[in-house]
Amino acid sequence: MKHRHLGRSGLLVSEIAYGNWITHGSQVEEEAALACVRAALDEGITTFDTADVYAGTRAEEVLGRALKDERREGLEIFTKVYWRTGPGANDSGLSRKHIMESIDGSLRRLGTEYVDLYQAHRFDHHTPLEETMEAFADVVHRGKAHYIGVSEWSAAEIRAAKPLADELKIRLVSNQPQYSMLWRVIEAEVVPASEELGLGQIVWSPLAQGVLTGKYKAGQQPPAGSRATDEKSGAGFIARWLEDDVLNAVARLQPLAEQAGLTMAQLGVAWVLQNPNVSAAIIGASRPEQVRDNVKASGVELDAGLMKAIDEILDPVVTRDPSLTSSPANRP
Ligand SMILES: NC(=O)c1ccc[n+]([C@@H]2O[C@H](COP(=O)([O-])OP(=O)(O)OC[C@H]3O[C@@H](n4cnc5c(N)ncnc54)[C@H](OP(=O)(O)O)[C@@H]3O)[C@@H](O)[C@H]2O)c1
Repeated sequence: MKHRHLGRSGLLVSEIAYGNWITHGSQVEEEAALACVRAALDEGITTFDTADVYAGTRAEEVLGRALKDERREGLEIFTKVYWRTGPGANDSGLSRKHIMESIDGSLRRLGTEYVDLYQAHRFDHHTPLEETMEAFADVVHRGKAHYIGVSEWSAAEIRAAKPLADELKIRLVSNQPQYSMLWRVIEAEVVPASEELGLGQIVWSPLAQGVLTGKYKAGQQPPAGSRATDEKSGAGFIARWLEDDVLNAVARLQPLAEQAGLTMAQLGVAWVLQNPNVSAAIIGASRPEQVRDNVKASGVELDAGLMKAIDEILDPVVTRDPSLTSSPANRP
């Protein structure tokens, strides 16, 4: 497993990270969750991503149990704050109150004294940015997080936050956006702003939630046990990708993957890692075999001819509009 710097910081992260959205505490049983984390560790993944909100806060507990016997210094643990975690008026957003309470809840559930990266899971249009950044600065200065990141923030939002972080002497080093062969909305604005300001992307759903593995076929039922059959939450999230034109275009990538000696999943993960502003691809997995398949994308270089062939096939179904990077108008 190769490591990359997280943005322009000294922190090294495994270029393939493991995330537990939808799976831990929800879609998969504890045993499968622990087996996935074990496989990730055995394959050299050191970076783990979760959030306070995942599975109604249970995902952090599962990850904490899975990592409890590991050497803390050998891990980079990331979590997030913003989405609703309780019934109260202040149980969501990026107010000072919620940030201060949420970090303590996350650390308790994860069983760790600090996280390596604490991320704003969206932009909060109803809290002054200064208030949010000052709260993050206190989190860092109290030793509860080492670095600060954001997720799905626009270029303008990142540009507003960076000088505040600098003034407060905290390191704003990353953005966590959706990015895959099918969803490229960060390329036009977010990536250039991040390159300029020293932020790296830690990208989510690099396989479009499993669609880029080629396992969903147009006109057929989704495979048993897949995210598309998880009525608790996964099915709702993946539905937007399960369109015949997308699935037919993705199926045409199969011979390209074979020619390159890669599985479809490896091709998908390797593709996002070709972007030099990407610090890590966060993969999800419901089974350890998926982790073992996907990690082989680390270090793979895709040549220009292959990148062009992918673009030609996918062009009609790729989403590129930068205005699609946005946070809810109202707090959740
Ligand atoms: N910041 C944000 O707003 C945000 C949003 C979403 C996600 N994330 C982060 O990104 C992480 C990854 O997201 P994701 O889970 O959507 O990523 P993904 O890697 O695109 O999709 C993972 C899912 O695809 C299927 N899959 C993966 N590898 C496979 C393989 N080799 N063969 C067959 N199926 C395979 C599995 O689902 P099944 O086996 O169930 O089909 C797996 O759970 C999350 O855990 C979270 O940490 C962040």
